[in-house]
Amino acid sequence: MSNHIFIRQRISSFNEKISVSADKSISIRAVLLASQAVGSSKISNLLESEDVLNTLKTIKKLGINYRKKENIYIIEGFGVNGFNIKKKLVLNAGNSGTLARLILGLLVKSKSKVKLIGDKSLSKRDFSRVIKPLKLFGAEVESKKNTLPIKILGTNFLRPIKYKETIGSAQVKTCIIFSALNTPGVTEINSKSSRNHTELMLKFLKYPIKVIKKSGYEKILIKGLSQFKSFDYNIPGDISSASFFIVLTLLSVKSKMIIEKVNVNKSRTGIIVILNKMGANIKLKNKKIYNGEEVADIYITSKKKLNSINCSSKLNSSAIDEFLIIFLVAAKAKGISKFRDLGEMNKKESKRLDLAVKFLKLIGIKVDRFKNNINIHGKPNLSLTKSFEMKNFLKDHRIFFLSCIAALTLGGKWKINDKDSINTSFPEFLKILDKLGAKII
Ligand code: S3P
Repeated sequence: MSNHIFIRQRISSFNEKISVSADKSISIRAVLLASQAVGSSKISNLLESEDVLNTLKTIKKLGINYRKKENIYIIEGFGVNGFNIKKKLVLNAGNSGTLARLILGLLVKSKSKVKLIGDKSLSKRDFSRVIKPLKLFGAEVESKKNTLPIKILGTNFLRPIKYKETIGSAQVKTCIIFSALNTPGVTEINSKSSRNHTELMLKFLKYPIKVIKKSGYEKILIKGLSQFKSFDYNIPGDISSASFFIVLTLLSVKSKMIIEKVNVNKSRTGIIVILNKMGANIKLKNKKIYNGEEVADIYITSKKKLNSINCSSKLNSSAIDEFLIIFLVAAKAKGISKFRDLGEMNKKESKRLDLAVKFLKLIGIKVDRFKNNINIHGKPNLSLTKSFEMKNFLKDHRIFFLSCIAALTLGGKWKINDKDSINTSFPEFLKILDKLGAKII
């Protein structure tokens, strides 16, 4: 079956209410924490994307049963360190950096060696960032070049650590928090600010975790070897998925959109802050707190005139997966937009900073690049007529979404390969575009 799409026409004006697929970060955490809870947890609106399905397969291989009943996943946990780890076990995290890094934290006490593998993209990614703290806890970790495959053997003599996390990576932070669950005593992390879903979920589960906010970073204290009860959780929509529809609306003509029930945790909403600074008028309404997480409806209207931004790198972590689509707005804004210290983008599913520069040049935008900083020279009247083909982007789902939004708002005749990549994070993507009237062949 063909795995590409053609877009040859801009989208016409729309005025729609949509909901996007459930949050990937929260879905993966909910499944992994349910696997460590005592009893049956019930998770509704779980994201059924490949990364999350691989998380479910992983806990099953570790002896945790689950079933699906009328759209609710019921997961039967045996408590912290309740995995039943068979000899010569191989776990496959597929494309998911989050699953791979988080599961290692839950294996620090494993009695037998577990091998962790992943797909081509994940096998190129850096794991030294988690191998270092895992070894400090006392686990044995083998890896040739700090990449997958990794073999991990746990220990009964885990020791709590005091760790400085300087990247601002929630995956590293959570790997350490998960290791700490299995470790006696109090583990301390001084972590550069990053998404805090794990901390909020553990607080909601009444687990002994303390977070002290400082400027730009957090001190987190976790008391190990406590148990928590099973829980019910309804997963909200994913702001990272919503971001493509936010920009679609913003750059379309006379259009409006409401995106319902999206997680708007402040550690994730950098895109809204950035776009509003560029002249958008994005509003959050119906705000509610659900199990410690903020959920709201997002209101967007299209905007003809957008301004450039000198973007503070303090916003980098809260928009890390959204810069690709933010750059598209910068391409249409008046003036030169400046973004700094985005080296982490090159450590994602593909080398996203390099690919973004290539992409912007492809659509006729001037970009200055100095190491991990870029200046984008916006063209408010940018309009495309040429033919474009998007291929060789390591099947990165977010590059696929970016290409579709560019085609639908800027024009041109596009062939976009690797349609299947949408299943990584946002299986509903093309269906929603269809509902909005986009002509996709
Ligand atoms: C994620 C954290 C981010 C993000 C990724 C999901 C998470 O990665 O890019 O898509 O769920 O913890 P880093 O923690 O490496 O920045």
